[in-house]
Amino acid sequence: MKSVFYSSLDKVYKTIDRGEGVYVYDNEGNNYLDCAAGIAVSNIGYGVKEVIDAMHEQAKKITYVYGGTFTSEAKERLANQIIDLAPDGMEKVFFCSGGSEAVESIIKIARQYQIEKENPSKYKIISRWQSYHGNTIATLSVGGRPSWREKYEPFLLHMPHIPQCNCLHCPYGLSYPSCKLNCAEALERVIKYEGPESVAAFLIEPVTGTTACATVPPEGYMQRIREICDKYDILFCVDEVITGLGRTGKAFAMDHFGVVPDMIAIAKGLGGGYVPIGAVVVHKNVVNAFEKGTKNLMHSFTYAGNPIACAGGSAVLKYIVDKDLISRSEKMGKIFLEKLKDGLGDLEIVSDVRGIGLLIGIEFAKDKETKEPFESDFNVCGKITKYCFDHNLIVASGISGTVDGIKGDALQLSPPFVIEEKDMDFAVATLRDAILDVINSIK
Ligand SMILES: Cc1ncc(COP(=O)(O)O)c(C=O)c1O
Repeated sequence: MKSVFYSSLDKVYKTIDRGEGVYVYDNEGNNYLDCAAGIAVSNIGYGVKEVIDAMHEQAKKITYVYGGTFTSEAKERLANQIIDLAPDGMEKVFFCSGGSEAVESIIKIARQYQIEKENPSKYKIISRWQSYHGNTIATLSVGGRPSWREKYEPFLLHMPHIPQCNCLHCPYGLSYPSCKLNCAEALERVIKYEGPESVAAFLIEPVTGTTACATVPPEGYMQRIREICDKYDILFCVDEVITGLGRTGKAFAMDHFGVVPDMIAIAKGLGGGYVPIGAVVVHKNVVNAFEKGTKNLMHSFTYAGNPIACAGGSAVLKYIVDKDLISRSEKMGKIFLEKLKDGLGDLEIVSDVRGIGLLIGIEFAKDKETKEPFESDFNVCGKITKYCFDHNLIVASGISGTVDGIKGDALQLSPPFVIEEKDMDFAVATLRDAILDVINSIK
C-alpha cells in the first residue's frame, strides 16, 4: 500500500538512496547529476561530513528547546555568522523553519513595525506579479504566479501587485534606458492609488527565481525602489530564499546592487539541504522601532531556532566561508553560462540563456526571433526535464508564465557550488540532446 499523498498522483516516484557531492543515487543503482541542487537548496553538495558531524554532536547534547525559554550556543553562533555575511546595518536574525515561514514572518514583522512606529493604518504589502514567495495563504497572497494562486483565490488577502521588471519581456513594451524605469515608477503609482497611509512594505525577489528563472533587474531599479520606499515610510523587504548565501556569486543578491534593504528572507541555502531552517535578517532601523516600542515581537514558531537546525546551518555557513564557495559560485557560474551559450545558443527554440552566479535560466520560444512562446499545455520544460531525468541529469522546470504570467517557458539550473567543469559538459550535452528531441518531435 502507498500511503503518501504525493503532489503528482499519477507519477511513479523513484526512491532515493544517498547523495555525494553533486550526485544523488536511487535504490535501483542509477546516479543523477543534480543540476538543480534539489531546488536551489543543496548548495554545498551532498554528504558533507563536517555538517553531519556537527548535527550529530548537537543531537548528543540536546535536540529541542523552546525558544521562549532558552537560547542555545548554536542559535547565537548561527545568527552571528549570518550577520557577518549580511549587508551593513543588518543587525538581528529571526529564525523559523523554511522559506514560506520566513516570508510570512517578514509580513508580520513589517506590520508590527508600523504599529511600533505609531502608523497603525499601514498594513498592505505591495509585491510583484511573476514572483514566488511561498505556499501559505499570506505568502501566496503576495506571490504572483497565477497558476498557483487560482484555486485558493477566495482565501487570498488584498495585497496589491505591480508588474515584474523584465527587460526581455517588458510589461510596458518599452526598452531600457529610454523606459526611464517605468517598472520601478509603477511602485509609486500603486502606493498613491492604495493610499500611502495603508502601505507597510514592498516585497520582491531581487533576482527572480523559478517563476522567471534568473531575471535580473536593470541598473538603477533597486536605487529607485529604495527612494520610493523611503519617501512613503514603507519597508523595502527582499526574498532571498533562493538567492541568499552565495547562489548569485555574492553573499546576498542585494550586494550586486549596492542597496541595503530593511529585511531579508533566507532559507534554502541556509540549511543546505541538511536541515529545514529559514530566517529573517532584520536591519537595525527596524530593530530600533521595537526597542523604543513594546520590546515584544508578537510572532514565533514552535521549532524556530531548533538546536540541530542551527548547528547544521552553522556548519553549512562555516563550510561555505572556509572553502570560499561564494567566489566559486561566481566563477563557476560564468564558466557554466558560457558553456551553455556555446552549446545551446544555436538551437532554434532556445530564445535566451542568462544567469548570475550559479542561478541560470534557459528560455524557450516557438519563434526565436519574435520570442513567440509555446502554448502552455505543450509543456516544453516538462518534456526537457523528463528527457534529462531519464538520462541521469536533474534540472528544474521553471513555472510557465515567463512572458506574460501565463505563457513563456524557462528552465532553471542551480547546481551545487562544488560542481566541476566535467559535470557542466555532461549537463550541456544532455540538455542539447533533450532540446533536439523536442525540436524533432514538432517537425
Ligand atoms: C523565492 C522563494 N521564496 C519563498 C519560497 C518558499 O520556501 P519554502 O518552500 O521553503 O517554504 C521559495 C521556494 O521555492 C522561493 O523560491
